[in-house]
Amino acid sequence: MTAARSIPLLDLRAQHKQIRDEIVAEVTRLIDSQRFILGEEVAELERQVAGYCNAAYGIGCASGTDALVLALTALDIGRGDQVLTVPYTFFATAGAIADVGAEPVFVDIDEDTCQMDVEQVEAALNRYPRVKAIVPVHLFGSCVDMDPLLAVAADRGIPIVEDAAQAIGAEYRGRRAGGMGAIGCFSFFPSKNLGGYGDGGMLTTTDARLAERLRALRVHGSRRKYYHEEVGFNSRLDTLQAAVLLVKFRYLDVWTAARQRNAERYRRVLGHSPAPVRFQAVPPFVTRHVVNQFIIRAPGRDALKAFLADRGIGTEVYYPLPLHRQPCFSTLGYREGDFPASERLAAESLALPVYPELAEEDLEAVCAAIRGYYAG
Ligand SMILES: Cc1ncc(COP(=O)(O)O)c(C=O)c1O
Repeated sequence: MTAARSIPLLDLRAQHKQIRDEIVAEVTRLIDSQRFILGEEVAELERQVAGYCNAAYGIGCASGTDALVLALTALDIGRGDQVLTVPYTFFATAGAIADVGAEPVFVDIDEDTCQMDVEQVEAALNRYPRVKAIVPVHLFGSCVDMDPLLAVAADRGIPIVEDAAQAIGAEYRGRRAGGMGAIGCFSFFPSKNLGGYGDGGMLTTTDARLAERLRALRVHGSRRKYYHEEVGFNSRLDTLQAAVLLVKFRYLDVWTAARQRNAERYRRVLGHSPAPVRFQAVPPFVTRHVVNQFIIRAPGRDALKAFLADRGIGTEVYYPLPLHRQPCFSTLGYREGDFPASERLAAESLALPVYPELAEEDLEAVCAAIRGYYAG
């Protein structure tokens, strides 16, 4: 059985339709100018995103993954070091730690909020004395409990790199994601709230020296053309992507409000139904959840996912295998059961369509199908 029309998890074409003329004009202008590397568009986006995140500096780069790699490199993290993060996140969080030669070590998440359980951090720092940075992940557009984390980290002189890839504009006690730690890392992957037409990323910081080093690191460690004080990367944000993102940035708050409206509707409609689903908890310290994903916890998740797919409803599992169980990290010595909250979320979480342009009747149809599944 299929729904009257299919409802995808994300429909980027619906968004593109609204802004097509503006995008085409900008991209055409740039192609005609043949200026493709850095330039005014990248600088302008860096200013705007930094301002939006309450940071002094923005540094565009090639992806969110590269933002994490650049951040860790700028903090001199490398071989022999450990970096503390969570196992329930997109792979790149830990992949970037491994990419710089360091070892990812984990604390579990809080099962209700899906965020790093900061109460476990102190014990983890005692257990792992080589931790040189902490990477909290503001997952799904919510926020980690930053104040206690910042306090523990400051006590030990350990810098925090915020993985804010999914959380542009999210607020913790009124402070923006990416503006609280030493460095914030953002992704412009197309599915993000501010998504490019390809890969892209951004770093934010209020530390002038870090900003200057990051700017050099993204162009082969060069401050003066053809002179290299250190070996860096080729990781610039494309001018074309910056031009697209400058157009989309104007709509970000309107789109975020639509995501929030959809999330509220799910909570209202599903919350008042007999379907035994649970929602991601949003504690009072999260003063702005930007809903990059709307996650439910559903008993019999895989069967529910298949049932919805049969009815033309797209969903996704974020993330089916926690990072401590990934084959590439088997040498780290973790076992099943080491991070039970992450493992339970991996087994039960399901992302529902929440994109800004989702029609109200489609959202109602998703809720009706979920109710129907549990009504059996
Ligand atoms: C939490 C998190 N960290 C890092 C990344 C990496 O970003 P990118 O795909 O732009 O490399 C992503 C997104 O893809 C992400 O969701």
